[in-house]
Amino acid sequence: MSGYRTLDDLDVQGKRVLVRVDFNVPMKDGQVTDDTRIQRALPTIRELSKKGAKVILLSHFGRPKGEPKPEFSLKPVAKALGDLLGGPVEFAEDCVGEPAKKTADRLIDGDVAVFENTRFHSGEEKNDPDFVKALAANGDLYVNDAFSAAHRAHASTEGLAHVLPAAAGRAMEAELDYLTAALSNPVRPLVAVVGGAKISTKIDLLKNLVGKADALVIGGAMANTFLSARGVCVGASLSEPDLAATAREIEQAAARGGCALILPSDVVVADALRAGAESEVVSVENVPSDRMILDLGPDTVDAIAAEIEAAKTLVWNGPLGAFETPPFDTATVESARFAARRVKEAGLVAVAGGGDTVAALNHAGVADDFTYVSTAGGAFLEWLEGKELPGVKALEK
Ligand code: 3PG
Repeated sequence: MSGYRTLDDLDVQGKRVLVRVDFNVPMKDGQVTDDTRIQRALPTIRELSKKGAKVILLSHFGRPKGEPKPEFSLKPVAKALGDLLGGPVEFAEDCVGEPAKKTADRLIDGDVAVFENTRFHSGEEKNDPDFVKALAANGDLYVNDAFSAAHRAHASTEGLAHVLPAAAGRAMEAELDYLTAALSNPVRPLVAVVGGAKISTKIDLLKNLVGKADALVIGGAMANTFLSARGVCVGASLSEPDLAATAREIEQAAARGGCALILPSDVVVADALRAGAESEVVSVENVPSDRMILDLGPDTVDAIAAEIEAAKTLVWNGPLGAFETPPFDTATVESARFAARRVKEAGLVAVAGGGDTVAALNHAGVADDFTYVSTAGGAFLEWLEGKELPGVKALEK
C-alpha cells in the first residue's frame, strides 16, 4: 500500500501504541454474537505485541451520544478479545483521564489493553482538539486499523493521526489494497452487482459505478424503480416512483459511459413477503397488478452469471432479492455461489461489502470464498461512492 505508513515503518518496541479498532460488534445479553471485526484486528494486535509494544485499543461501540451508558461498555468485548488472544487483556474504565493513564502506566512491553468506549465523550464525534490531546496523552504512536469507521472524522479515527506518528494497521492495509484493486485499478472487465431495497440510499454509489464498471447489474427492490421508470408495471412491489427521473439519469449515464446496465428480464412474484409463500416466475412485462416482485427470475440469474463469467473483477453490494425469506433467496444464493466458483476456478477477483451483503453471502455459504469481504457498512458504501474517507486521508504520508 503506497502513500501510507504501515506497521513496517514504525519502531514500536517499548512504545505505547494507540490502535483504533472497530469493536462495534453485534452483542446480545452482554455477549458478542459475531466476532468477525475482533478477528480482523488480531493480526495487528499480535504483531504489535510481539514486537514489544504496549498495545492500547481504542474503539467506539454503538451510539451513546457523548455520555457513559453501561449498555455501550466495551468491557464484554475486552473479555471476548482476551478469549481470542488466549491471554490477559487489561481494561480501562475510561479512554482518557486517570483510569486511562493508570492502565497505560501499568502496561509492560507486549501487553494489550482495551480502553472504554470513545463515544462516552462528546469530544469524540466533534473531533475536539482537547479531547484528541487527552487521548494522545497515553500514546507515543497511532495506528488506525478501523476502515469501517474511517468515514467518520472523529477524534480517534482522524484527529489522532495529526498529533502522533501514524500508520495503517494490517486490516486497514488489506482493506485498502483490495478495494483499490477492485475499483481504482481493476483488471477488466469490471462488473458491479448492486442490490438492496432503495435507490434513494445508493444514488451517488450508482452514479460513481456507471463511470467505472464495464457492466452494472441491478437487483433487489431498487431494480423495480428502474423498471417502472422504463414504463414497466411493477404491480404491488416496493419501488420509489419519485426517483424515476434519477433512475433514467443513471441509465443515460451508463449508456454514455459504455457501461452495460443489466436489469431483470424475469422476476419471482407473490402476493406477500412470507416464508414459503406461493410464488411464480413471470417476465417483467407481465407482473400482475396485485403481486409483489420478491426475487429475480432464472433468465435474469443466467444473464448475471454470463456477466460474472466474462468478468475479471467483481464488486458486490446488496442482496438481489428478499433473501432472508425463502424461497426469495434463490437469485442471491445462486449468483453468489457462481461468483465464488469463478474465484476458485478462474481467478476472478471478487470483493463484497456494505450493509446486508455479508449476511447474504453467509446465507449463501460463500463469504469465505470471495477474494475479500469487507466488514464495513457505511464506509464501504462511501468508498463505492468515490468519496475520500477522512480516516484514510489522514494516514497519507
Ligand atoms: C459501522 O458499524 O458501520 C461502524 O462501526 C460505524 O458506526 P457508526 O455508523 O455508528 O459511526
